Amino acid sequence: MDKKFYKNSASNVIKNDQTISIMENSNAIEFHSSLSEYNPTPLISLPNLSKKHNVGNIYVKDESFRFGLNAFKGLGASYAIHKSLTKNPKTAIFCTATDGNHGRAVAWAATKFGKKSVIYVPKDTSLNRIKAIENEGAKVIRVNGNYDEACLQAEKMSKENDWTLVQDMAWEGYTEIPALIMAGYLTLFKELESNIHKNNKSQIDLVFLQAGVGSMAGAGVYYYLNKYGENRPKIVIVEPEQADGILFSFKNNKLSTSVGNSNTIMAGLNCETPSMSAWDLLKSGADYSIKVSDDYAKMAIRELYFPTGSDKRIISGESGVGGFAGFLAILNEKEFRTIKSELEINKNTNILFISTEGNTDKQIFEEIINDNL
Ligand SMILES: Cc1ncc(COP(=O)(O)O)c(C=O)c1O
Repeated sequence: MDKKFYKNSASNVIKNDQTISIMENSNAIEFHSSLSEYNPTPLISLPNLSKKHNVGNIYVKDESFRFGLNAFKGLGASYAIHKSLTKNPKTAIFCTATDGNHGRAVAWAATKFGKKSVIYVPKDTSLNRIKAIENEGAKVIRVNGNYDEACLQAEKMSKENDWTLVQDMAWEGYTEIPALIMAGYLTLFKELESNIHKNNKSQIDLVFLQAGVGSMAGAGVYYYLNKYGENRPKIVIVEPEQADGILFSFKNNKLSTSVGNSNTIMAGLNCETPSMSAWDLLKSGADYSIKVSDDYAKMAIRELYFPTGSDKRIISGESGVGGFAGFLAILNEKEFRTIKSELEINKNTNILFISTEGNTDKQIFEEIINDNL
């Protein structure tokens, strides 16, 4: 049977390479703080939901408030483009492949720095997502293929046209920009140092990080290992069932491409091959890798949108809710029962979720909350 999880024996040791050195020396939070759109995103505590699920405290970091972009991705794109322009100020055009949010963020950052952008999207990207990217000033090109194919096309066209590729995934020979992007994502974890990450001992026992290519999760793993070492919170990586490149890589014990059919509503997580640099980090510091069906994403969206008791409403999109979907699956699926006990999920466990996007596709979101999808 195709197992839906992998238990990793994390080494808790970070391999010292170029990626780590870029992340270690990053001043991304200082850079982000200098932007006019900057505000730390809110951390929301949900006491009634916590009671309902019989856990300590559920916290949600709401990235829908990031830079007016409705998703966290602007953190990586803006920092990478800023650093790239410091080195090569004459760059005229930035390029990337995207399932939506990263492309919008690259377009936004390029426009902000007075530059142009060309964004490649997989064939089944929704029109609403394409429009959102175009509205930031980009030229959008639809590729007749999946996310991996869009990446190949973006890389090829960047080479041919001397554009700067700002891809959020690393491969052999392409690691610097992806490392800068991960360094940019560190800001969201550092912002928590005014509250739950304030002390030398984290107030969080367990973190769920959803993954597409794994760069956001990789940044999280790096952050926790760097700050807390072996005393870090436990970390669970969550992917869609049909785009499970990280779980598949864990099972094969080497970087591998998912054989799923990429059929998922979690568009931002719909990536076949993990980022090489993120994969190295996840091996070092993730405890579990799991995959979940779209049904849990829908359930998670509704639980946050229709709050329990007086809890605050959170608008979290199909990928934004990925980590919370993983939690609900662990509580509900027979196959995950052992994980619940091994992670010691009980009435004292404090859990962090990163809602990485809001309703980035309003139509799909409405259909889900109205129970039509
Ligand atoms: C909303 C959202 N959440 C999470 C992710 C996953 O990030 P990564 O591809 O770095 O794993 C993405 C990626 O596009 C996304 O758009």
